[in-house]
Amino acid sequence: MKYLIAYYSWSGHTKMTAERIARVTGGNLFEIVPTEPYPRLYARCAIAAKAERDKNARPALIGTVENFDDYSDVIIGYPAWWHTCPMIILSFLEQYDFTGKRVHLFNTHMGSHSVGTELIREHCKGEVIESKDANELKQESQIKAWLGL
Ligand SMILES: Cc1cc2nc3c(=O)[nH]c(=O)nc-3n(C[C@H](O)[C@H](O)[C@H](O)COP(=O)(O)O)c2cc1C
Repeated sequence: MKYLIAYYSWSGHTKMTAERIARVTGGNLFEIVPTEPYPRLYARCAIAAKAERDKNARPALIGTVENFDDYSDVIIGYPAWWHTCPMIILSFLEQYDFTGKRVHLFNTHMGSHSVGTELIREHCKGEVIESKDANELKQESQIKAWLGL
């Protein structure tokens, strides 16, 4: 099994969990970085994020994953934004063919745990497993149990 851990993080929480998962699995990290950064001010970011969700937008992102086909399992991490995943996650999904891959989701949040799964399933041909609450991935044993390692 070979793991790719792709994540988007606005303020660093999702990044921390993604890095922990990479350490435990030995997988490769890919940070999803928007071409145009979101505003640093929370209120402005919230407005931008809501507008993107309402328009079903596909914000552009920087870079591509090398040798995507080599990965059997893709782990995708994101913060809850407006009760679902940020639209840039859909931009990422639509760049690759996930057929035959297991897709493990996790999300950080301030209450909206395990969101985004249905939306992601609509845009991904892989076997998408329901989003895991990042608060339950703090320890190595939790990460291993989650992934069946
Ligand atoms: C634009 C925006 C929208 C958010 N919407 C939600 C939400 O709907 N539900 C929730 O529980 N948290 C929401 N949050 C809080 C984030 O999900 C939470 O702070 C997350 O841990 C941030 O992760 P990050 O540091 O990787 O960006 C929102 C944060 C932002 C910036």
